[in-house]
Amino acid sequence: MSTNAFLVIEQSLGLQGKASIHGAKNAVLVIMASLILTQGKSILHNVPCSDDVLQMIKLLRQLGAAVNYYQENSVLEVDTTGISNYKVSHEIMKKMRASILVMGPLLARFGRADIALPGGCVIGTRPINYHLNNFAKMGVDIEINGDFLCAKAIQLQPGTYPLEYPSVGATENIMMAAVLGKGTTRILNAALEPEVLDLVSILQKMGAHIEILPPATIAIHGVDQLKPVDHAIMYDRLETGSLLVAAAITGGSIELPQAPAFAMDIFLMKLQEMGHSIEVGPHGVGITLKAAASPRAVSFKTAPYPGFPTDLQAPMMAAQCLAEGTSVIEETVFENRLLHVRELQKMGAQIQIEHNKAIITGVEELYGSPVIATDIRASAALVAAGLAAKGTTTMAGIHHWKRGYDALELTLAQLGAKIEMKFIEEVHENNEQDIMPIQQIPSIELN
Ligand code: EPZ
Repeated sequence: MSTNAFLVIEQSLGLQGKASIHGAKNAVLVIMASLILTQGKSILHNVPCSDDVLQMIKLLRQLGAAVNYYQENSVLEVDTTGISNYKVSHEIMKKMRASILVMGPLLARFGRADIALPGGCVIGTRPINYHLNNFAKMGVDIEINGDFLCAKAIQLQPGTYPLEYPSVGATENIMMAAVLGKGTTRILNAALEPEVLDLVSILQKMGAHIEILPPATIAIHGVDQLKPVDHAIMYDRLETGSLLVAAAITGGSIELPQAPAFAMDIFLMKLQEMGHSIEVGPHGVGITLKAAASPRAVSFKTAPYPGFPTDLQAPMMAAQCLAEGTSVIEETVFENRLLHVRELQKMGAQIQIEHNKAIITGVEELYGSPVIATDIRASAALVAAGLAAKGTTTMAGIHHWKRGYDALELTLAQLGAKIEMKFIEEVHENNEQDIMPIQQIPSIELN
């Protein structure tokens, strides 16, 4: 159904009010995968109802887990006692790249993992070579047959595994593979994103012995078994960032009492440099933003945590389009994550691209236009721009929005945004603008 949907956004200046944040998508997916390491019933709280979560539920069921999702209170019960299968089908794998995160837990539990390769990936190069190379060093025998991968290990070898780049997924996968092993495994140059630390914290509750050693080493001392747990997923810093940008770009004022400000330093610093007022609650939890009347342009480059998050690059770019002055944004984490530039340009933004840099000259006004979301965070950027733009914006590529956010359009509507999900027939009826047919919509899967 969602591929037939569009978001229709009208200019909505001055978003205002208080909003709740959901659990973090990038924490919940890996945490759901980590439950494979236990036998018994675990309970997760703050589980967002996004399409990726629903897909991960399907995956766990395919492996043999009993899963109940209580959407009304965001609780997920997962009983992993019945997991006896270590094979993930192509159908599930190609819909969600994060499925690769079951490889480590399956190897730890069964010494086997048979998974289809995530769509669009060429083995031996990006994007899962860091996972596979390190599994091979741990003694995993990996065989690729077409687009299916069979991995086997008699015993996972403890050791010291340096990562050439602090990859979030590779860090998580290696850590989960090593947690039930013998001896100590060290991941050097590990990713230390807040979502990785949420995984560390649930693994510790399960009984894992994991230490974080400065500057960026994760030491995992293997244990014999792990127990089921009760865990609340951390609040989503990326949903928070998207809401803050929406308030900032519309000249609004919002309060997000659960926002994980403690994990958002550089992003918040950049909003303040723009002139927006930011207040953080006690213990780094909760953010209140009051937008500046004439925000200034700021420059930044994305980097692994604690640097500026690549996942907030696109929304923050939308904010620069209407700021005073020139901003230079450099994307260093992903090679191809400036596709939203073309869409912002359709709305009147002045942006030039030089390699991995976008140079944005602030304009007085943006104009509503039909646009296409190319990844989850591009969708948040286009919605923010649409809320500030004169006229109507229709956004296609809604499956990205639904994969990453739990009904963020409803949260925005509560803050005063004129935003509605409509189906293609309705949009054609009510809107004379030229809308690209669904089958022509280009997109990248970056989850
Ligand atoms: C996680 O992706 C997130 N996804 C991404 O969130 C996020 O953008 C990214 O980390 C960086 O913070 C989930 O947590 C489910 P990486 P992941 O491995 O683990 C290259 C969103 O919008 N690389 O840290 O896949 C890779 O191509 C999404 O919510 C290899 O070359 O990211 C990229 O350039 C998008 N080989 C860089 O490393 C590998 O084996 C960082 O990727 C693995 C990665």
